[in-house]
Amino acid sequence: MNTILVGLQWGDEGKGKIIDFLCRDKDVIVRFQGGNNAGHTVVINDRKFIFHLIPSGILRKNKICVIGNGVVIDPGVLIEEIETLKKGGIEVSPKNLKISLFAHVIMPYHRIMDSLREKNRAQKIGTTMRGIGPCYVDKASRCGIRMADLLDVNIFSKRLKDNLEEKNLILKKAYETDIFSFDSILKEYREFAKTLAPYICDITDLFYAKKDKNFLFEGAQGTFLDVDFGTYPFVTSSATVSSNAMLGSGLSFVKINEIVGVAKAYTTRVGEGPFPTELADNVGNYFQKKGKEFGATTGRPRRCGWLDLVLLRRAVILNNITKIVLTKLDILDGLDKIKICTVYKQNGKLLKSFPLDLSSVTPVYEIMEGWKTKTEGIRTYRQLPIEARKYIAKIEKFLGCEVNYVSVGEMRDAIIKK
Ligand code: GDP
Ligand code: IMO
Ligand code: MG
Repeated sequence: MNTILVGLQWGDEGKGKIIDFLCRDKDVIVRFQGGNNAGHTVVINDRKFIFHLIPSGILRKNKICVIGNGVVIDPGVLIEEIETLKKGGIEVSPKNLKISLFAHVIMPYHRIMDSLREKNRAQKIGTTMRGIGPCYVDKASRCGIRMADLLDVNIFSKRLKDNLEEKNLILKKAYETDIFSFDSILKEYREFAKTLAPYICDITDLFYAKKDKNFLFEGAQGTFLDVDFGTYPFVTSSATVSSNAMLGSGLSFVKINEIVGVAKAYTTRVGEGPFPTELADNVGNYFQKKGKEFGATTGRPRRCGWLDLVLLRRAVILNNITKIVLTKLDILDGLDKIKICTVYKQNGKLLKSFPLDLSSVTPVYEIMEGWKTKTEGIRTYRQLPIEARKYIAKIEKFLGCEVNYVSVGEMRDAIIKK
């Protein structure tokens, strides 16, 4: 059974927790896009793991975790992630972690360009400042540096020299900032290359012979941060939708059986950009506080709002979702009424199709009964309050797609099969 898992909103839907759960019966877990802008959390008893680059399957024994060609890798961050896991007693070795030769490398100038651009442009995106966008820009402009290039000192030196000539010129002219030193970057990245070399390989070649294994593709970010289908320009710089899983991994020979969409029981967003159901009131604060809605990567507070079914329906179509996992249902416990957006209004008219610009719409809500009891300790679907089951049934009916798991707490076992 091969599965792709993606986020259906603006990221932070709880993908890390669900990957950790679903990968029990998988052999290979593959990240196919994004970089260390991602923060995927898994909580096991009193330990909290936040993964930025390594697939969240690394905590389970006898799994192979893959960082695919579609990912952009900050080698310093990756090495730190490996070291932290090892220190915590988690096995990470070239046996269970593989890095694609073709993944692009985030360089110091990418991080600086990301933050300078954010500082200087009139319309801010609110990026994670990790250099993600500029690295993908260089990949498309054909001046990027790949993991394969990092391994070869001659190629690396040449590419670095070419890049610094261009980047230093731009930085000096446009931003009057200090310029980068070839020697110090070369030295730092040679060390990175030595540490990472045993993990780097040709993923396609390696897994073609193992194509009968069970694969799980771990998406990062969320559908509406997709560079094509998201709320452009307030998006990330990679394709976050399920169709990118094949391209971002080089594993097109793997036949996909299911595409799982993870959705939070309400909506959150970090950074700038339109958000029709955003709440600026007490309920928004309630979600923010109770849901501990702070970015797992940057620590920024997440904007919060009601569940948006118009958005989710679009995400189900864009990703060809076959099953939904609904997370953080427990955060809705105790609310008197729950609002759920079922249609948008634009210029006083109800919209029939998905709008180009989400900033020009207002949400129209249906109001549902809340529930008073705690869902956190519940482990069977029947035990969920009737109002919670009605909420889930409403989501399924509207989306024409089954919710097959409901998550009711951050702990590993706080998950209910429907
Ligand atoms: P990801 O980026 O999609 O993996 O999500 P994040 O890890 O950035 O954010 C999700 C947060 O919600 C993390 O702190 C998780 O530990 C937590 N979480 C996941 N599922 C649940 C749940 O069902 N209930 C509660 N209360 N917290 C959850
Ligand atoms: P996970 O995988 C939530 C957002 C940033 C910003 C926009 C562009 O944990 O769900 P970037 O640094 O990618 O150029 O920033 O995308 N963003 C995320 N928001 N979860 C994420 O990842 C995100 N990765 C990027 O906040 O608005
Ligand atoms: Mg996250």
